[in-house]
Amino acid sequence: MRKLPVIIDTDPGTDDAVALFVAKALNVNVDTIVSVCGNVNGSYTHNNVVNLNGFLSLDANIIKGADKPLSGSGFTAEEVHGENGIGGVILPKAKDNAGDISQLYHTLKQLGKADVITLGPLTNIAYVLREHPEVKKNINSITAMGGGFEISNIPNNAEFNFGCDPVAADIVLSSGIDITIVPLDVTHKVYLTKEELQDICGFEIDKTDQSVLGVMSEIMYYNYKTSVAKKDDGALIHDATAVIQYLHPEFFDGVYGTVTVDNYGATTFKDGGNIRVIFNVKRDLVIERLKFCFTKGH
Ligand code: RIB
Ligand code: CA
Repeated sequence: MRKLPVIIDTDPGTDDAVALFVAKALNVNVDTIVSVCGNVNGSYTHNNVVNLNGFLSLDANIIKGADKPLSGSGFTAEEVHGENGIGGVILPKAKDNAGDISQLYHTLKQLGKADVITLGPLTNIAYVLREHPEVKKNINSITAMGGGFEISNIPNNAEFNFGCDPVAADIVLSSGIDITIVPLDVTHKVYLTKEELQDICGFEIDKTDQSVLGVMSEIMYYNYKTSVAKKDDGALIHDATAVIQYLHPEFFDGVYGTVTVDNYGATTFKDGGNIRVIFNVKRDLVIERLKFCFTKGH
């Protein structure tokens, strides 16, 4: 069982929202959540972090992270996540007591050791590593949803999180920190069919149901709708898969090597290195954990 405090860096995003719900339901020791621009612009992703933190009773410290990549202009994905990033769902407005990105360094020093889970572009983690290289010793591990080896989802054979900020991805991947990458090659194996969604979330959406389960089910179905519209096999909950990998590495198979990124964020793997790249998953065990979250875990 993982015991260290956890810092989640995220760009909600429908699958990020599901990941935060799963983190709460499975009792991840979430100390801090850092917002980052990505799926939608930074003001939406930050508002979603603040409001999801309250709505899901995560009660984490919040840091407002980057509104733009370290270099270039990045991408957004409103066609997948909706204009507000969470499928148009309106959450109860929580008070925004967020610190600025300089707080991330102080949080890591105060915690002494923390596990980091990144669910969006790596801009914030790269920034703190570049400004304070010594903070590397305070990061026990990084579990990053990102990269794609046989699968890409943005141009030039890249994946969204690494492709939004390739400079940041390069800084983090070359840092020497104990990193596990959960790439598209694996998250696309955990697609949810309509039948599986119905089994996990119930048969239909009641938009008047403002309970946690009701709202999270609505977000899951929105993810399903936009995923299949893009000809994916079902709902793609990339980020929830990464959180479950953090908690249950035994559900997954990986290989150690070195991962490099090109100027577009496209990843290349070669043997020999400290980065664990996940390449396979016991899908049924992940689905069971999701079902637990939507039935008993909330
Ligand atoms: O490529 C998928 C990743 O990019 C997921 O984290 C999704 O939320 C987007 O951030
Ligand atoms: Ca994300």
